[in-house]
Amino acid sequence: MSETVLLVGGGGREHAIARAVDEAEEPATLYACASNRNPGIARLAEEFETLDENDPDAVVDYALEVGATIAAIGPESPLQAGVVDALEDVDVYAFAPREEDARIETDKAFQREFMEANEIPGRIDYETFDDVDDACNYVESYDGDVAVKPVGLTGGKGVRVTGDQVTTDEAVAYMRDSDWDDWVVEERLVGEEFTVQAFVAGDDVLVSPAVQDHKRAYEGDEGPNTGGMGSYSDASFQLPFMTEADSVEALRILEATVDALEDYRGVLYGQFMLTAEGVKVVEFNARFGDPEAMNTLPVLETDYVELMQAARDGRPLPELEFAEQATVCKYAAPEGYPVDPKAGTKVAVDEERAREVASDYDGDALLFYASVDERDDGIYTTTSRAFAVVGVADTISDAEAVAEAVLDEAGDEGLHVRHDVGTDALVQARIDHVQELRGN
Ligand code: AMP
Ligand code: GLY
Repeated sequence: MSETVLLVGGGGREHAIARAVDEAEEPATLYACASNRNPGIARLAEEFETLDENDPDAVVDYALEVGATIAAIGPESPLQAGVVDALEDVDVYAFAPREEDARIETDKAFQREFMEANEIPGRIDYETFDDVDDACNYVESYDGDVAVKPVGLTGGKGVRVTGDQVTTDEAVAYMRDSDWDDWVVEERLVGEEFTVQAFVAGDDVLVSPAVQDHKRAYEGDEGPNTGGMGSYSDASFQLPFMTEADSVEALRILEATVDALEDYRGVLYGQFMLTAEGVKVVEFNARFGDPEAMNTLPVLETDYVELMQAARDGRPLPELEFAEQATVCKYAAPEGYPVDPKAGTKVAVDEERAREVASDYDGDALLFYASVDERDDGIYTTTSRAFAVVGVADTISDAEAVAEAVLDEAGDEGLHVRHDVGTDALVQARIDHVQELRGN
């Protein structure tokens, strides 16, 4: 039977999911809906409907209209809004967690308390508050640096870390100025971050290669936090600063979490910090990362439609196979992003030319659109991340060169890119950092 896949979400991550569905051998027709029109997804889909992706009724109506047989949900906010549960009520299976299970991401107090109650490894010192004054007093009296987090969703921009991004006074002022009452305050972790995304259904927890994202806006990890400026993965499951034991520990944590959640399905994203004391959990997400999906899905050789079908039908997930290639993803955001972004730059990436450039490195180059405005005479930037370029090659170094060559073709006028993502110098700095932490 041919599947009718409904994709919800219109960013770079969802463009990568659309491509995975498009490349699948299992017969499938793709329909897409999101709050913003993504021209890359629209090109791959039978139809692209612009609707409020956080409105369960709107998504359900569209799913019924197109006769969806499986849904893929990219972003976190539809999960929180109960889109998966609403689809289930009309017998449309979504390969994504229900609202209650998505709390592992959408409620940061629940996340830490759940880890504590179930003795999930990788726990850290934390305290939860429902009053901002109490939270501020705790921050001021805490012996050491902290991370302060609003309990709810903030698009990756809500956390402040003292001793790194801000002083204690600045963290307290930030908390008092915000509209949040509920906070988690936790010990500041020092180390290198990595992401591991697992595909979960039934008893299966199948991991994909580790990825490192770059959340800070400017080169050298300076500036405000963003949704993520770029990311890389290696040809193996580990990043160059990790050992196999670190990957095994990440898997153990993900398995323990799924086990305790009981009914989880979809992608479980673990954000980890490799510290001097081992692997610690920074957070969980109930979905693919953006940008990380753009590293993972292009090297996933397993049929993505078959994978979702198996999950829906209660069969074991197919074994995951990944091309043994490295990836480097670089986002192009509008100039001034994220503080004072200037929209309206015409985006000119020639995909044919990109592939030619990549072939010089025996690799591949992919383009994923995120937030753009498609007009009659072309595609223009808005005030959010516009598009991502992904280089795929045998080594991180070559994948980085591919990504840069493609960006070079596009020109950098009106755009902000972190050119340091995936460079030899930055990767070496990560290796040196971990060696220093481990005391060699
Ligand atoms: P989150 O929204 O939880 O992913 O946090 C965003 C970013 O804040 C993370 O990727 C980390 O870089 C940083 N962060 C969060 N929690 C901590 C922590 N406990 N210690 C140090 N950095 C943290
Ligand atoms: N890359 C971070 C996130 O998707 O939350």
